[in-house]
Amino acid sequence: MNYNRRDFFKTSGLATLGLAGLSAFGNNAESMRSKFTKERKQEFNMHGYAAPALDVVRVGIIGMGGRGNGAVNRLNAIEGTEIKAICDVEEDAIANALSRIERLPNFDHDVDTYYGEEDSWKKLCDRDDIDLVIVTTPWHLHTPQCVYAMESGKHVATEIPAAQTIEECWQLVETSERTRKHCLQMTNVCYSFFEMVTLNMARGGFFGDIVHGDGAYIHQLITHNFSKRQYHNMWRLRENSTRNGNLYPHHGLGTMAQIMDINHGDKMDYMVSVSGHDFMMNKKAKELAAEDSFYEEYVDRDYRGNMNTSIIKTHKGRTMMLQHDVTSPRPYSRIHQISGTKGIARTYPRPQISDRYQGWFSDEEFAEIEAEYTPEITKRVGEMARQVGGHGGMDTLLMWRLIDCLRHGIALDMNVYDAASWSAVVPLSEYSVANMGIPVDFPDFTAGSWQTNQPQMDVQLEKGGSTRIIA
Ligand SMILES: NC(=O)c1ccc[n+]([C@@H]2O[C@H](COP(=O)([O-])OP(=O)(O)OC[C@H]3O[C@@H](n4cnc5c(N)ncnc54)[C@H](O)[C@@H]3O)[C@@H](O)[C@H]2O)c1
Repeated sequence: MNYNRRDFFKTSGLATLGLAGLSAFGNNAESMRSKFTKERKQEFNMHGYAAPALDVVRVGIIGMGGRGNGAVNRLNAIEGTEIKAICDVEEDAIANALSRIERLPNFDHDVDTYYGEEDSWKKLCDRDDIDLVIVTTPWHLHTPQCVYAMESGKHVATEIPAAQTIEECWQLVETSERTRKHCLQMTNVCYSFFEMVTLNMARGGFFGDIVHGDGAYIHQLITHNFSKRQYHNMWRLRENSTRNGNLYPHHGLGTMAQIMDINHGDKMDYMVSVSGHDFMMNKKAKELAAEDSFYEEYVDRDYRGNMNTSIIKTHKGRTMMLQHDVTSPRPYSRIHQISGTKGIARTYPRPQISDRYQGWFSDEEFAEIEAEYTPEITKRVGEMARQVGGHGGMDTLLMWRLIDCLRHGIALDMNVYDAASWSAVVPLSEYSVANMGIPVDFPDFTAGSWQTNQPQMDVQLEKGGSTRIIA
């Protein structure tokens, strides 16, 4: 079919609209695209910020579900830590946590408990004998709890995503800068063993200039999302049945952003995001509701699509592809594929490396490069972290590094700008998806300091590293 641009304008009637009309359309697109950006002066640069050293880090944990209990296990194995208090809105979550604690080896912490009210956690934050609050609650509580904890003079480490809206991202940035309290988003995959090898390879020049990365959170959680065993009002199902976008970008994005120097040398400029339809969740809700009236309210909701795909372009012209799917029956994958002018590596379906067109390195070549780029953190505490566990040890490595940095008074590996910009993918993708994949600009949470900030994650342990892990 011979259908050129002139025909298009004729048949669509746009020829009569003229240039003025088109530019009005363009202006609208421009304002939609920059809807979430704002000019801002930085109050204080938290990138590279080192808070005063703490001999012992006194910790309170909010949210005693899966992650809160895991945090207790890990902190119990790390020298120089005192677990002072735990909190959950549900009394039986606290009872469960206490019975787990009783079974932990060498547990020597005097733990106070808070529970019963939606805001019992404020009492934990109000104490004056806590240095660090760990937030392991459902998503919508992360920012309010982080902000309150920082305002109460505590450092805070939150589960992912740190924020749900751009407004919340700014709240985190502005509170952290004003209070000079750390706000760490616990992106545990940044401590995954092979992801750290790839970060080291990037810094050592193996990839040449980084061109493109692929990341994902592909994790079939359909049974988990519909499970009644979840605490607190089916929060996972509610999130997935009311919102559409990349709701959980950090597992695919974390190390890729560090490799691409996001917030320290480069920044994410804009993103487009598209979701397919939901093929499975509503079907599952209907099947369950036919047997159990509990699920009736989850039928015919506005479920997220099975697969969301987002593409990000950085200021320096690199691209990232991020995917998110929590329902399709597929093997787990973060992809984590980094491609540069000299080489490539990927983590899934299994770790592989190459620097040539003809295929991946042999097992011997792979082992040689992996050994060359295995970072000091893995050599020093990797085995102990594996023994303590948590996603193969990466959760323990993250916790160890956080405590070690606080005890040595050195900058954390990730800061509030990472928390904000990585979390911004959530609302920006929702907006792009709702508007047929329109490009949408990232706010610059660093207010321009990305141009001079230096890479921060210190996998070679140039500073700190003496805290022990006792498995
Ligand atoms: N990084 C990872 O690998 C990883 C893995 C799993 C979960 N997560 C994240 O960790 C967070 C928690 O997940 P989970 O699996 O532990 O969930 P969970 O449902 O097991 O635990 C959440 C807990 O928070 C409690 N809670 C709810 N409202 C509260 C309130 N107002 N005050 C105090 N406590 C409250 C709930 O009762 C529950 O016990 C989520 O953000 C999740 O996405 C991260």
